[in-house]
Amino acid sequence: MIGQPVNRIDGRLKVTGAAAYAADTHIDRLTYGYLLTSTVGKGTITAMDPAAALAAPGVLAVYTPFNALKLLPYTQNQNDENVPPLQDNQIRYHGQVIGLVVAETFEQARDAATLVRVSYDAQPPAASFTAGIPGAVSGGAPTDVLAPGVASIDDALAASPVTVSATYTTAPQNHNALEPHATVAAWTGDQLTVHTVTQGVLLVVSRLATTLGIDASKIHVINPYVGGGFGNKWGNWAQVPLTAAAARALGRPVKTVLTREQTFTVVGHRPPSSQTVTLGASPDGALTAIKHEGISSKGVTAYYTESTGGISLNTYASPNIHVGRKVVPLNSPTTTIMRAPSEATGSFALECAMDELAMALGMDPLELRRRNNATASPANGKPYSSKHLDECYTVGAQRFGWSRRNPTPGATVDGDWLVGLGTATASFNASKAAASIRVRLAADGTATVSGTGADLGTGQTTVFAILGSDGLGIPVERVRVEIGDSTLPHAANAGGSSSTSTNGPAVQAAVDAVKAELIRFAVQTAGSPFFGADPATVRYDGGTLIAGDRSVSFGDLLTGVGVPMVEATATSAKNGDTVHAYRSWAAHFCEVRVHRFTGEPRVARMTCVVDAGTIVNAKAARSQIIGALIMGMGQALLEDARLEPDTGRVANADLAGYLVPVNADTPAFDVQFLDHPDTLLSALGARGIGELGIVGAAAAIANAVHHATGRRIRDLPITLDKLL
Ligand code: MOS
Repeated sequence: MIGQPVNRIDGRLKVTGAAAYAADTHIDRLTYGYLLTSTVGKGTITAMDPAAALAAPGVLAVYTPFNALKLLPYTQNQNDENVPPLQDNQIRYHGQVIGLVVAETFEQARDAATLVRVSYDAQPPAASFTAGIPGAVSGGAPTDVLAPGVASIDDALAASPVTVSATYTTAPQNHNALEPHATVAAWTGDQLTVHTVTQGVLLVVSRLATTLGIDASKIHVINPYVGGGFGNKWGNWAQVPLTAAAARALGRPVKTVLTREQTFTVVGHRPPSSQTVTLGASPDGALTAIKHEGISSKGVTAYYTESTGGISLNTYASPNIHVGRKVVPLNSPTTTIMRAPSEATGSFALECAMDELAMALGMDPLELRRRNNATASPANGKPYSSKHLDECYTVGAQRFGWSRRNPTPGATVDGDWLVGLGTATASFNASKAAASIRVRLAADGTATVSGTGADLGTGQTTVFAILGSDGLGIPVERVRVEIGDSTLPHAANAGGSSSTSTNGPAVQAAVDAVKAELIRFAVQTAGSPFFGADPATVRYDGGTLIAGDRSVSFGDLLTGVGVPMVEATATSAKNGDTVHAYRSWAAHFCEVRVHRFTGEPRVARMTCVVDAGTIVNAKAARSQIIGALIMGMGQALLEDARLEPDTGRVANADLAGYLVPVNADTPAFDVQFLDHPDTLLSALGARGIGELGIVGAAAAIANAVHHATGRRIRDLPITLDKLL
């Protein structure tokens, strides 16, 4: 089963609307919350008058900082906001949550929200990233990796025969998951049940326990289906504690669903960046120095700090590397993690700089990358557990037809279109944490694999089913999955591209444990055909227990003795290897066509060859990479959340003003996986793929734009005005 293309086991439920997402939750006596948000970018709220709203039809309550629902300070960095909502009258950014209206219907709550009168003592917000760059402050200590005898990165650069240096800028991005954030909270006595969007139900339990001041054992969080996460469903944003606290105060369940516009300010975004990359090399292309100075914005409410240059410590062999980290504090919506945080941003600068170095050297950009392939981590010298990036380059170049590329930029024309081919390297950290999974074998012949986890649309549910099916030797149709429920054994939250690498080995361990438990049960249970047998003589094969000429399926065995199920829970360990470095790898190739009169850039095709260890589901994995490539296209060509410098307001907070690629923008994708299990990480050998595909994708496109036109656009997104 492992590595086959398998349809999602919940696919039919999703496309027919039968899968209940958080906002689909219906509870008797449900009420509806609507968030009120600030209309100034900085200052204090001097007064809020809820009288007209309270008099409106169906309104049950209006919560503001002046009658706030009590929330205790946050104690955990969840890459969300560092202050709970409504606990003071400070305005930290435009679009900040300043109230919650609760009514009998959503429409009544929304209409009443427009009636709340708010008075501000407004101050000018710090809202321009560009203006703030000269005053940028430390975003963490710089990192220097220097060869013996080299005093500084600048000395290494001064001694380099060839250098290139340029500044690259990237735009703020919003995650824009298809499913907006939603939370439903219901109390039964002191027991709280929460249906909420999340990348990990355990994150919700811990946050609500501390901020509501109740015991974690009283909180049940449920979220089996998630309509995309991309990082901003990791943390718990304002609607989560407010909805739970309002439901407690009102004695009725509350549902709060964000509007699309609110998702642009309430739930975080990827910060913009300005990065100066200076590369030094010898004439044969060997890197001698990498200096990567990164500056990004940091919302004043953010825990998260984007460190753009980290990619330069983890990609190419260079004896000297410097990464600098600065941030510009802004009265912007909260900055947070977004798919391949830091790496998606940093790789744009590093991979464009590599292309510029190739031009300066007169070298093929793919050959330059091969020339600097690192077999050990440049950051710490640890050898990579398994790395086949060279093969990604070779296979990708062959599939894409790289050898037919004319090295001269602007030399390939097809009618009115200038044709360019670009390449870039992708890499992303790999890891394996501890996880627990339970497997139950039932009298009806089915198996159920259970763990908290989260399926953000990645296909994690189907990964559980495939590994259950594979290990138990029964068809995938006979494997059920329970995921996204805090009462289940504690599996990995979905983040850092580590769900399958962490949870997969736990599923395999639980399968082994339940087989052993089934045999123990069979020999110790009166009425079992194997009762009294030596367990060493009984073996499990394909859903059946066999001893000598006796052979009984587990379903028949359990039915025969009248026991509904046997179960086992197993925990797989965190990766304890301190010797090796772990990373996934990929090579991007893309063809971009730029219209010679309008400047319109179109991605014509992309090839991505991936070295990520074992692939569990070839079909969903391909979708993961394609989705990331499309997000990379968005980053390269379209996405740009505009913060008005004077007001701090997001000017294009909807999908008409903030553009993401649509089907008409997306070309043919050629995704190929190499098959090199990373057996140092686990017996399963799976690393991770969720974020890898976006790393370097924007650079590959920018490099292709340069090859098509001879124009080096270092400012994302590459819109047609920049090409005219
Ligand atoms: Mo992801 S940005 O690891 O949630």
